Amino acid sequence: VRILFVCLGNICRSPTAEGVMRALVREAGLEGEIEVQSAGTGGWHVGEPPDRRARSAARARGLELDGAARQAVAEDFERFDVVVAMDQENLAALRRLAPDDDARARLRLLRDFDPEARARGERDVPDPYYGAGDGFEEVLDVVEAACRGLLAELRADAGA
Ligand code: 4NP
Repeated sequence: VRILFVCLGNICRSPTAEGVMRALVREAGLEGEIEVQSAGTGGWHVGEPPDRRARSAARARGLELDGAARQAVAEDFERFDVVVAMDQENLAALRRLAPDDDARARLRLLRDFDPEARARGERDVPDPYYGAGDGFEEVLDVVEAACRGLLAELRADAGA
């Protein structure tokens, strides 16, 4: 299964989701089964590494974030089985980018995989870019809860 996480800049939230999910997949021994990448709907940071604040928050939890930002393209809907938006704004942008209904059917919102967030009606991973304080810690908490739900759903689908 190939998963693409998508935020706006591809330097904060989606690289965090990529790093968190990759670690969960490794813990589960499923590296050969699940592949994870990330992209942004915007192009301002193309080629840049993840934001240093995101990297340092992740590193404190034993995660190394790497890669270079890239912009999501229509072909991503052919290359990936699931395209996971970090918030509703990026979900809307991805809907516009999707070439057809088949592609739109692969689109999901990350926090919809977290039963507790669903129960509270929380749908977005808050954008930490302009905020001060512990926005990056919150992103890690929110993303980890949702990625656990995503992995559980993938395992249930696979009957494993
Ligand atoms: P991200 O955060 O979408 O989580 O990577 C942002 C990064 C950059 C900008 C906005 C959000 N920006 O406006 O440059």
